[in-house]
Amino acid sequence: MSGKLKVGIIGVGGIAKGAHIPGYLNVSDKVEIYALCDIIPERAEKRAKELGVEHVFTDFNDLVAMEEIDVVSVCTSNYAHAPATIAALEAGKHVICEKPMAKTAEEAEEMIKAYKKSGKLLTIGYQWRFDPEIQALKRHIEAGDFGNIYYAKAIATRRRGVPARGDFLNLEKQGGGPLVDIGTHALDLTLYLMNNHEPDVVLGSSYNEIAHKGCLNNWGDFDPKDYQVEDAAFGLVKMKNGATVSLETSWLMNIMEDEIFGTEVYGSKAGAVFHAGKPVTIVNEAYDRVNVNQVVRRNSNLNGYQAEIAHFIDCVIQGKEPLVKPEEALAVMKIQDAIYKSQKTKQAIKIV
Ligand SMILES: NC(=O)c1ccc[n+]([C@@H]2O[C@H](COP(=O)([O-])OP(=O)(O)OC[C@H]3O[C@@H](n4cnc5c(N)ncnc54)[C@H](O)[C@@H]3O)[C@@H](O)[C@H]2O)c1
Repeated sequence: MSGKLKVGIIGVGGIAKGAHIPGYLNVSDKVEIYALCDIIPERAEKRAKELGVEHVFTDFNDLVAMEEIDVVSVCTSNYAHAPATIAALEAGKHVICEKPMAKTAEEAEEMIKAYKKSGKLLTIGYQWRFDPEIQALKRHIEAGDFGNIYYAKAIATRRRGVPARGDFLNLEKQGGGPLVDIGTHALDLTLYLMNNHEPDVVLGSSYNEIAHKGCLNNWGDFDPKDYQVEDAAFGLVKMKNGATVSLETSWLMNIMEDEIFGTEVYGSKAGAVFHAGKPVTIVNEAYDRVNVNQVVRRNSNLNGYQAEIAHFIDCVIQGKEPLVKPEEALAVMKIQDAIYKSQKTKQAIKIV
């Protein structure tokens, strides 16, 4: 490689500041943050000043038009994921777009078309896949230690954890609430561990049982009048190979814990529970005994976000396919959309 890769970041709010910028700074021997864009000009200017970045825009089309830029991070609210990603791919940039992939599965399909046409790389910000525990579980599953995984549970629930900021409560801008915010991560992890991205039929429900009345919230106050999305969603997915996936997700649920995030996979030879912050537990049978093994947490020098960015930059430099493939993120989008559709139609939805 001659010189450093030049990166442009579109949307410089929370995730850009907390994940993408530190992620690029962590590999500053390979990349340079070259341009920033946000529809809030003061925000973009402030970040640019902090980072010593010269090129600042309010329209992402101007950022992607810069010849010098190699890699673009899309860190906007969900409504702009597809247009910004497509513009960047069409301009010949590699793109890492935040989760959820888009506002709808249709938009995600358009992104995939642009990606295939571009010959560039596209990945989606599912950083939980880089967790060392998840990687360890994945290795065991790939080695066949779990047998046939016929049931899995994706869980992302909080007792009082509404992200009461930015566009998170705006249906038009985000496309949904906890399902597309945190449920999407749990679902991605679950399908990844199962190595199964072929949903067949989805039965889903979504609710607003608590938010509309107003309630205590650990993540900032909100006015129930501004709250346009669900506060909980549940789904049951029948996969094409017959496996079943259940999903529960909520920002506001009367659960015992502050928060549960993770996945559980159950196979013919072993089962595993991954709940973030707790040791992974694997149950299996060997030597005429049923064993319950608590796997000691592996430490990593990198957090998930840093690992994700470092991996993507290596993929760009080495021309490798990223761990999170756009087609896999599309499968998650299809399930999310089907859960909302199932709620509206009171029918199970066949995925095509
Ligand atoms: N991977 C994760 O775990 C994780 C965590 C948090 C957020 N996210 C995702 O990151 C995205 C942003 O979330 P956030 O927490 O940073 O929100 P945020 O509101 O803090 O930041 C979003 C920024 O995008 C800007 N923006 C909106 N539309 C734009 C456009 N058309 N062009 C340029 N800038 C635009 C906003 O002005 C804002 O500064 C969301 O899609 C969210 O789902 C991912």
